[in-house]
Amino acid sequence: MTQLPGLLDTEAIRKDFPVLDRLVHDGRKLVYLDNAATSQKPRQVLDALSEYYERHNANVHRGVHVLAEEATALYEGARDKVAEFINAPSRDEVIFTKNASESLNLVANMLGWADEPYRVDHETEIVITEMEHHSNIVPWQLLSQRTGAKLKWFGLTDDGRLDLSDLDAIITEKTKIVSFVLVSNILGTVNPVEAIVRRAQEVGALVCIDASQAAPHMPLDVQALQADFVAFTGHKMCGPTGIGVLWGRQELLEDLPPFLGGGEMIETVSMHSSTYAPAPHKFEAGTPPIAQAVGLGAAIDYLTAIGMDKVLAHEHALTEYAVKRLGEVPDLRIIGPATAEDRGAAISFTLGDIHPHDVGQVLDELGIAVRVGHHCARPVCLRYGIPATTRASFYLYSTPTEIDTLVDGLEHVRNFFG
Ligand code: ALA
Repeated sequence: MTQLPGLLDTEAIRKDFPVLDRLVHDGRKLVYLDNAATSQKPRQVLDALSEYYERHNANVHRGVHVLAEEATALYEGARDKVAEFINAPSRDEVIFTKNASESLNLVANMLGWADEPYRVDHETEIVITEMEHHSNIVPWQLLSQRTGAKLKWFGLTDDGRLDLSDLDAIITEKTKIVSFVLVSNILGTVNPVEAIVRRAQEVGALVCIDASQAAPHMPLDVQALQADFVAFTGHKMCGPTGIGVLWGRQELLEDLPPFLGGGEMIETVSMHSSTYAPAPHKFEAGTPPIAQAVGLGAAIDYLTAIGMDKVLAHEHALTEYAVKRLGEVPDLRIIGPATAEDRGAAISFTLGDIHPHDVGQVLDELGIAVRVGHHCARPVCLRYGIPATTRASFYLYSTPTEIDTLVDGLEHVRNFFG
């Protein structure tokens, strides 16, 4: 097996992930390279979920019985774990949502219904980038349509990075919010947060960071990022589906209005009006995703025990190797940075004029799971004049041997299509 410096002990780690032992298509070993879409789950997370349902299941915050108290302690304990994982100054800054899309929609709606000085209206501007996932485009388009605010964005360079040459012209005194992705799900690019945040702060704009492809893969410190909001999802970081996080600065969460109304988010209700609970509960209407939060807490325990700096080093070594090996495949064009510098472990590519769906299908027959399509980032495909890409994405259990298998598989695809 190829050895690279910085790799984790994947032999031990893979034993924690039952699905990685699966055989597919007539006994082929599964090579799971679709981690940017969702990660697999370790036994520790699966056990935490079944233990929760088998022993502690109850609704949170309102019961006086033992199960309700246990469920509440587990749910709120998961909030503590998230706060520590992202270095939040306060646990009350951690809002549970159902996924990163909901987190980003929540920010857009908070601002849409806010009073001054936060209100987004027809005299203000919203800034995003051309490499956003649809979940960080559509909520802002909706807000712009509703309020008349102007939507602006940073374009992309030919090598898949943000074009910040017009930073001062894009972010202006009119900008209310700058919302951008930390690591692109399609290009793999790691964006220069500092330069964007500095300019946003200069003009008094809020900053929202989509960390969906960062939180699973690298240490995440919301204080160091100096953002106002950070959104991510649990299922890409060994947790279950149905749980996302929005971190927001405390004073903003105190000032901004709720979006969804209902049980759990109120202080008092009369037939005429209501007052709201303090954050984070103000933003968590209804029964929350309790088991899912508990599962996310277990995922955070799992990742923390390994060490996020070690996860990052592992993926960097794999990405370096993958970029080199993919470069050996004739007619393969990487869409995004062609080096491992400032890039994450998701690598999109085209293979001659073979349609990515055909590439994906033939790879699947070999047991290799990749994602094909526009990856919910269609403007990126439009920018590079391609209908779609094939994307291989790695995680802490991925190995160099799997990258070799992918490269052999791509040779097979090329031969298959002549
Ligand atoms: N956002 C996920 C992806 O990039 C679904 O595949």
